[in-house]
Amino acid sequence: MKYKVMLLPGDGIGPEVVDAAVKVMEVVGKKFDITFEYDNGLIGGCSYEKYQNPLTDETLNKAYNSDFVLLGAVGGYQWDNLPQHLKPEAALLKIRKSLGLYNNIRPAKVFNSMLDSSSLKPEILKGTDIVILRELTGDLYFGEPRGYDDEKGWNTMIYHKFEVERIAHQAFQIAKMRSQKVCSVDKANVLETSQFWRKIVIDVAKQYPDVELSHMYVDNAAMQIVRNPKQFDVILTQNMFGDILSDIAAMITGSLGMLPSASLGEKYALYEPVHGSAPDIAGKGIANPIATILSVGMAFAYSMKVKEAENLINNAIDKVLERNYRTPDIYNENEGHKLVNTEEMTNLIISEISRS
Ligand code: IPM
Ligand code: MG
Repeated sequence: MKYKVMLLPGDGIGPEVVDAAVKVMEVVGKKFDITFEYDNGLIGGCSYEKYQNPLTDETLNKAYNSDFVLLGAVGGYQWDNLPQHLKPEAALLKIRKSLGLYNNIRPAKVFNSMLDSSSLKPEILKGTDIVILRELTGDLYFGEPRGYDDEKGWNTMIYHKFEVERIAHQAFQIAKMRSQKVCSVDKANVLETSQFWRKIVIDVAKQYPDVELSHMYVDNAAMQIVRNPKQFDVILTQNMFGDILSDIAAMITGSLGMLPSASLGEKYALYEPVHGSAPDIAGKGIANPIATILSVGMAFAYSMKVKEAENLINNAIDKVLERNYRTPDIYNENEGHKLVNTEEMTNLIISEISRS
């Protein structure tokens, strides 16, 4: 099999972690007789610098021609004060919307070897395995009207029926392959959009009698994720709430540097680490590549349908962590960790993969 991959490394540490992940992808691909053909493009601040546009149509067209996109990160202080439509973040929203990537899967699973790295107690974390399903192309992020003037600022929280239905179906289907539990998170005690969301989710649930559906308000969910994360299997939620909850859930894994994501639509797919561009450590070669490597694992599972390849990657990472190798963001001197940089971490993961 041959796949066309569009690489969008982006800003900050993006290029470093994408490089690392591509190396792993090549090695794993070989094991499964898969080869890759690459295309490259600019996204975010680097694209703005070159074209005064954070995402050009040319880049977007290349993405339409790919089997999947692997993205690093966008953003940096120097672009923070640009008008909204020129900001690096605008490029991310544009590519999500243009490719129809409404289904954002953010797994937060704890590696046993990382139990001591979180700010949460190991006994609370042990065995945690959550999937956050974040709706990605609706809500406040895209609702119109939006804007601000000298006197006020406004955004529109809106969901259409078809948008809630399709993401709800995804949640129930994923839950069927896991522990058969969906917790839909909303703010139905205050927001009409959430009341509507809840009503539609309940309707869709009727088609999945084996899956247990519960509902939780988002403020409570934020607390429950850190209080007792093991109670959750699939968390289904709106775009805005999913953005916040997935950062909270990152602490389950010990670091934002460990969280991968897949964004899927009917036709296209994009894989990216949940973390940002980390401009403060960019170019130093010390970024944690694990989130992006895990994202490549998700690409094997969802776009290439070789779940064993994803398992292979996850197991290799687990073994390297068990051997106490850590990049600076997850390093703790008192735990006997061995400090490694991006390249060393990547090579360690690759040797584990080659060995198995
Ligand atoms: C994320 C990020 C983005 C979002 C930003 C960078 C636009 O925080 O993917 O979680 O808010 O969706
Ligand atoms: Mg976020």
